[in-house]
Amino acid sequence: MSSAPIVQVDGVSYVYSGEQGEGAKVLDHVDLVIEQGTFVSVIGHNGSGKSTLAKLLNALFVPTGGVLRICQMDTRDTASIWEIRRNVGMIFQNPDNQIIGTTVEDDVAFGLENLGVPPDEMRIRVNEALASVQMESFALSQPHKLSGGQKQRVAIAGVMALKPSVIIMDEATAMLDPQGRKEVMALAHQLHRTNGVTILNITHFPEETIDSDRVIVMSGGKVLLDGTPGQVYQEYETLRAVGLDVPFAVRMQHRLAEAGVTVSPSLRQEGMVEELCRLLLTR
Ligand SMILES: Nc1ncnc2c1ncn2[C@@H]1O[C@H](COP(=O)(O)OP(=O)(O)OP(=O)(O)O)[C@@H](O)[C@H]1O
Ligand SMILES: [Mg+2]
Repeated sequence: MSSAPIVQVDGVSYVYSGEQGEGAKVLDHVDLVIEQGTFVSVIGHNGSGKSTLAKLLNALFVPTGGVLRICQMDTRDTASIWEIRRNVGMIFQNPDNQIIGTTVEDDVAFGLENLGVPPDEMRIRVNEALASVQMESFALSQPHKLSGGQKQRVAIAGVMALKPSVIIMDEATAMLDPQGRKEVMALAHQLHRTNGVTILNITHFPEETIDSDRVIVMSGGKVLLDGTPGQVYQEYETLRAVGLDVPFAVRMQHRLAEAGVTVSPSLRQEGMVEELCRLLLTR
């Protein structure tokens, strides 16, 4: 395994240009290094630049300032663009917008067809990808009959078939019910554990970030905080100041502190319940 970082964002800025000329800087000198195999969550208020960063990472846009490298490939280098897109798979919010095949297996095969993979190998890779998302029994199903969570799992299989290094989920759970959300997050963690895929999960749900290796907080086109979930959620006042929610247990810890009750920090509700029981029993 290469020890070089999989993502290198070096002083990257981005400005959208529209009919009225150049707009504001939506990314402002962002520096980030992401090591292979990291599970990263990205949070930040609406318009903080999360989706723009995602689109720069898979070379849909190129930086207007600075340099962005994926697996040491500069995203400005047009000769690398397809290799970068194969390496950085994207899953978007609306599952209905990313399913194109008339059957689940056709849908998963779509990206491979575009790459010109021979039919025999394509069959093997489609089956492997469907197995990796536990959807093999739905291979011949019509995608529109699946639940939202199942559709997102098929979309993830389509990306997995291309053997990516990084999967970016841009609010991929936002339109799902709680069950679908749980399924998709469990799958992301499983692919991270068993296939070593680097995951970048952009989300508005703080609870989804608790099991990440790293949480990056964006604000106004800059990185405001960057650390483990424990480190980042210690910065309660900073997060509240930019209107960001924190996991329930963290909110509870601070409410209790306001009421004069000190509890040790916990990111999970179960941890907080244990801590409260311990406090009650030792009073
Ligand atoms: N195509 C575009 N043209 C012009 N401005 C844009 C375009 N897309 C996004 N923006 C602006 O860029 C800024 C960053 O947008 P971006 O979509 O990256 O934010 P975000 O953090 O993903 O927000 P959200 O949480 O709402 O998805 C916003 O001010 C947005 O209005
Ligand atoms: Mg967005």
